Amino acid sequence: METKKWIVDNTDPFKINYPQLKEAAVLLHQDQVVAFPTETVYGLGANALSDQAVLRIFQAKGRPSDNPLIVHITKKEQLTSLVDNLPQAAEQLIEAFWPGPLTLVLPKKDGVSAYVTAGLDTIAIRMPDHPVALALMEVAGLPLAAPSANLSGKPSPTTAAHVDEDLNGKIAGLLDGGSTGVGLESTVVDCTTNIPVILRPGGVTKEQLEEVVGQVEVDPALKSQEHAPKSPGMKYTHYAPIAPVFLVDGTIDFFNEIVHTAKKEHKKVGLLVTEETKALLNQEGDVVHTCGTKNDLSTVATHLYDALRSFNATDVDIIYSETFPKEGVGVAIMNRLEKAAGHKIIKMK
Ligand code: TXA
Ligand code: MG
Repeated sequence: METKKWIVDNTDPFKINYPQLKEAAVLLHQDQVVAFPTETVYGLGANALSDQAVLRIFQAKGRPSDNPLIVHITKKEQLTSLVDNLPQAAEQLIEAFWPGPLTLVLPKKDGVSAYVTAGLDTIAIRMPDHPVALALMEVAGLPLAAPSANLSGKPSPTTAAHVDEDLNGKIAGLLDGGSTGVGLESTVVDCTTNIPVILRPGGVTKEQLEEVVGQVEVDPALKSQEHAPKSPGMKYTHYAPIAPVFLVDGTIDFFNEIVHTAKKEHKKVGLLVTEETKALLNQEGDVVHTCGTKNDLSTVATHLYDALRSFNATDVDIIYSETFPKEGVGVAIMNRLEKAAGHKIIKMK
């Protein structure tokens, strides 16, 4: 299949890009899948109300069928046809964070496609904060089921080039709206329990959620690998480049030692570090990709997936990554890094 590509402008997509959006909308009405930018990562969108369209998402990504999708909407009123009843905590979170990088798991209404929810009786919904995503859904007049627009197991795409790398020829269309902002996927919060539970950490932090609804819990599976995650997607290996990733938890001297040992073993070494760490390390790494600054971890979130993907264009044998404090957005960053590393962590004694 030929993938139709459109460059779109983020300033006023309605006015400037109407013809492109209209073409994309026509494809969506034909049950085809179209990738589009959101404020977190690129999404792979299809009509959430069509089984055929939703099945095509799973095919294009090679996604296991037991991993449910997030439904994207533009207006709160769309919830009525998707959700059985709206818990009070959900109301408050919607008020505070939509549109934005927060997905709510809610009781599903009968009639919603079982393919979208992978047979669960709950449905995950979010309203993205991106002008192109919102305009596309408005023009199509459809809620869009959309996972991240990467092949299953690869890092999520933060540019149209990443989507192209994974899915060119496998999808009907790709709207290129430049780089996404947040860089990590939305926070997923289960609102079907008395106390809301974070199933996947993301751009909206636990502290921010608690300011709005009081106590918030964290799925035990996020803290220890002994528990099965309640968000099916969290059990799969994710975000991994081709070369094995190891997380290095220790001082700069310790990091230098680890790199030096690998070099003595004639390995080609890739380093994934912040600007500050790069400046302090001995220059022994063969390929160094930086991801933002320690002073502002949101810059690390923005650049993490691009940095991880960039190693695939190199021939490094091993990748050593810096670790981050599990505070604020650092929780989401470490969640993704631990998955990319398959939980291989080298800790200083
Ligand atoms: O930022 C994002 O959330 C991006 C953009 C495109 O919106 N989307 C995204 O979708 O990351 P995806 O499919 O890659 O991740 C969706 C996550 C998975 O971990 C899935 O298991 C979980 O949400 N999920 C979906 N429906 C669920 C449900 N009913 N209950 C629990 N977890 C659910
Ligand atoms: Mg994904």
